[in-house]
Amino acid sequence: MSEASGPAADARADAGPDVDVDLRGAKDFTANPYPYYEKLRAAGPVHTVRTDEFERVWLVVGYEEARAVLADQRFAKDWRGLPGAPGESDPIFLNMLELDAPHHTRLRKLVAREFTARRVEALRPRVQQITDELLDAMLPAGRADLVDSLAFPLPMTVICELIGVPDLDRNAFRRLSNGVVTPASPEQEQEAVRAMNAYLGELIGEKRRSPGDDLMSALVRARDEEGDELSPDELVGMAFLLLVAGHETTVNLIANGVRALLDHPDQLAALRADPGLLDGAVEEMLRYDGPVETATFRYPREQVEIGSRVVPAGEPVLVSLAGADRDHARYPAPDSFDIRRDAQGHLAFGHGVHFCVGAPLARMEGRIAIRTLLERCPGLEPDAEAGESDWIPGLLIRGRRGLPVRW
Ligand code: HEM
Repeated sequence: MSEASGPAADARADAGPDVDVDLRGAKDFTANPYPYYEKLRAAGPVHTVRTDEFERVWLVVGYEEARAVLADQRFAKDWRGLPGAPGESDPIFLNMLELDAPHHTRLRKLVAREFTARRVEALRPRVQQITDELLDAMLPAGRADLVDSLAFPLPMTVICELIGVPDLDRNAFRRLSNGVVTPASPEQEQEAVRAMNAYLGELIGEKRRSPGDDLMSALVRARDEEGDELSPDELVGMAFLLLVAGHETTVNLIANGVRALLDHPDQLAALRADPGLLDGAVEEMLRYDGPVETATFRYPREQVEIGSRVVPAGEPVLVSLAGADRDHARYPAPDSFDIRRDAQGHLAFGHGVHFCVGAPLARMEGRIAIRTLLERCPGLEPDAEAGESDWIPGLLIRGRRGLPVRW
């Protein structure tokens, strides 16, 4: 899920100065991109933009066009075959989210069965137990950073147990993962990618030597229908994708969701009064301020027309899930946070063949975390004295690094 890999990064040097909108230096964009998306949408569903990271990228902000691009097989994910692409890629990027059929189909089949609603349901008691233990540890202090105390360790512990890395130093891994997914600089990204490849290579070696009763051990042994096993690099790519996608996102479902409730006391009160609204509230949290701001890069294999714009072959395209989910043409009053609305059809988990494999798990974790937090913290409020933490840089992930609260 790197933002700065592939030809998009190279486009920095090549692209001309002509873009519709220059978002560089728009300091408030990271904190609140929604007014920008609204302005762009008013002018049309598809634009070229320059950002702090990219010289020129196509940005899709209209709901219908976003859905169409995500389902359109003319857009490739795998940039390696495209003109101008670097030939080599790090193993961690050899994962299904960066690949197309038939490789994507083969890899996805191998893990999809582990994440069906039924398999995920079996994890419910354990997810509840981890949540209870984290809250037991958090509550006596009367104040905490909700990201450090609950929103990060819950999904991280769940995904580590699932894939079989129980002894992982989670805070060290969190720094490494942040360095790959939301790097502060290209140097930091390079170093994090190197360290991540080395770490996961060792982990796979360990699973091969002494397999356990976990998902990675199963994948080491797995054979597809042709009898092929996953190559060492494919295993590293899969471990990377599951570990990173399994926590970088869900942490922000929980934190952005709780922040939206704290910012809208009437909605918080309505949810407390009627916990039956919870499932719908979590969908609205995903629509209103979801964890993934833009989907990962796609590249048209041929020239493609979208929203009356002609995108040349090979140019990087970003679908703004956040922009699409605030489209007036799809949702009435899209900027209001309304836990009773019908948020169905939101694009927070993507759409099409790369639709999030972990959606049932993420939904279950989000619902359990938020319900249990509200039950056990009747006086939950923002901790104004602790100040506000930084926004996560870049266009991929939406959220703040922390969420200070008290009760
Ligand atoms: C609220 C939490 C989550 C959100 C908002 C989310 C969002 C997304 C999105 C938008 C995509 C598609 C990206 C694209 O098309 O460019 C995606 C793909 C994926 N997600 Fe999630 N995700 C979440 C949680 C999880 C969890 C918990 C897991 C793992 C257990 C997971 C595993 C994956 C995988 C493996 C893919 C790639 C699927 C493919 O390429 O076929 N995600 N996710």
